[in-house]
Amino acid sequence: MSRHAVQEELSLKDVCGMLRQELCQGNDFLQSDTHIFIILGASGDLAKKKIYPTIWWLFRDGLLPDDTYVVGYARSKLTVADIRKKSQPYLKATPEEQEKLEEFFARNLYVQGKYNDRASFERLNAHLNSLHNGEKANRLYYLALPPSVYEDVTQNIRDTCMSTVGWNRIIVEKPFGKDLQSSNRLSDHISTLFKEDQIYRIDHYLGKEMVQNLMVLRFGNRIFGPVWNRDNIACVILTFKEPFGTEGRGGYFDEFGIIRDVMQNHLLQMLCLVAMEKPTSTNSDDVRDEKVKVLKCISEIKPENVVLGQYVGDPAGKGEAQKGYLDDPTVPPGSTTPTFATAVVYVDNERWDGVPFVLRCGKALNERKAEVRLQFRDVPGDIFQRQCKRNELVIRVQPNEAVYTKMMTKKPGMFFNPEESELDLTYGNRYKDVKLPDAYERLILDVFCGNQMHFVRSDELREAWRIVTPLLHMIEAEKPKPIPYRYGSRGPPEADELMKRVGFLYEGTYRWVNPHKL
Ligand code: NDP
Ligand code: BG6
Repeated sequence: MSRHAVQEELSLKDVCGMLRQELCQGNDFLQSDTHIFIILGASGDLAKKKIYPTIWWLFRDGLLPDDTYVVGYARSKLTVADIRKKSQPYLKATPEEQEKLEEFFARNLYVQGKYNDRASFERLNAHLNSLHNGEKANRLYYLALPPSVYEDVTQNIRDTCMSTVGWNRIIVEKPFGKDLQSSNRLSDHISTLFKEDQIYRIDHYLGKEMVQNLMVLRFGNRIFGPVWNRDNIACVILTFKEPFGTEGRGGYFDEFGIIRDVMQNHLLQMLCLVAMEKPTSTNSDDVRDEKVKVLKCISEIKPENVVLGQYVGDPAGKGEAQKGYLDDPTVPPGSTTPTFATAVVYVDNERWDGVPFVLRCGKALNERKAEVRLQFRDVPGDIFQRQCKRNELVIRVQPNEAVYTKMMTKKPGMFFNPEESELDLTYGNRYKDVKLPDAYERLILDVFCGNQMHFVRSDELREAWRIVTPLLHMIEAEKPKPIPYRYGSRGPPEADELMKRVGFLYEGTYRWVNPHKL
């Protein structure tokens, strides 16, 4: 049979089945088992914007076990139809998919109940048991809830809702605590109820294509290994930028600030993947062991290595851009919560001693961007009259996933002088027809498959909080005034000065020429 004919013979379901097999590689995922995905906090923002859409996409693509049910739980009096209506704008279902969407919602249930009430959870359990094979089903509990109710909810699940035959897994969202102490308290509580292999702490950056790619780039290539160290790398910059402010979500944000919101989790996780030694295998704990070792080598962030900022409105900007953080009516007047932070940390081990790792994150900046940038040292023994600029390797996480190396090349033509150029792997050009799944799709599927590699282990979490907690406590106690920066700018210039001070060299001469626009 020709390859074409074979492909035609494979239905979409077969292809998805194969993909499912490949993704789950021997983990305890049995297609015939009944699975129940329980969303606690089903009435909330995260549930409607992320969790329902994600579970629908997995269902639509045939990636879930065949006998899967979705059960929403929250205090509000709702029906499945209400849930559907709320999440409708985020489901992205085409007219052709309507039948499938009906099928999906036919597998949904909603149970109303309180979070601190055992009887409510007993009722939830009765509903779960009443589903086909419900008592024996594997159960996934997604806590799309504020951390203030985690303790009650996990206790009630443990006491009343455990599957006795199948497995039980708990998915926990950030923020997981507010500092080292509160996070430890929560961890201690949860660890009395569940074993570590039942707890899936989500950091959705670990589900992003390019973040996952860091391990393959580093350990699947001979060319990077020998230069990935203090002898060759001058500094590493990890960046998260968003072009919008809090926009009505300021009440939530103000309690946390940008350090808890992004730096403690997303940026430190990316740092671990850049800095860690090669794990002995791709087994979840081998990888996480190496990540923890990196964090253990980082001292607490020192205030003199930090620049904090808060955005102010741009009078010349349009719409929201005219409003500063303090103009958001949900933000307490006079708040000193940072919406921007740059911090420099060092990984004190043999590979990285003395190399600054710059963590930069902010809201209401000039662009949306998340990237990892390694700037290399100058070429020793220059013969080109200082025309060569430092090499940089950039892994752009979003938008427009790309890996590029800024490098010198001979200026083409009748010249012999060096010119800045790049080696460019832009995903949109190289992988034209590949649809990259959303981070949550990968991660939720991982929970079904029992793969914890891309989830945060309790010791990782503890170490990450240890690094940022003294800074957070200092900010809370002393309330240093963050530096104002204009909405839509690159943030306070003091952050660039800090980067320069620790050794990042910005030349400003590199010009990107998009080959598709030539
Ligand atoms: P640049 O030399 O322009 O910028 C390098 C770094 O310097 C960035 O981290 C930038 O940070 C920072 N920077 C910018 N201005 C200053 C300043 N005044 N002081 C200190 N630091 C500064 O190179 P890029 O790698 O950023 O490339 C330029 C453009 O080309 C980008 O838009 C990039 O996306 C594009 N490009 C696209 C490719 C692709 O699609 N495959 C390949 C190569 C390049 P900050 O984020 O704060 O601005
Ligand atoms: C979340 C933060 O963890 O990440 C948000 O709480 C932020 O403040 C979001 O907007 C960014 O995620 P992404 O995937 O859009 O980069």
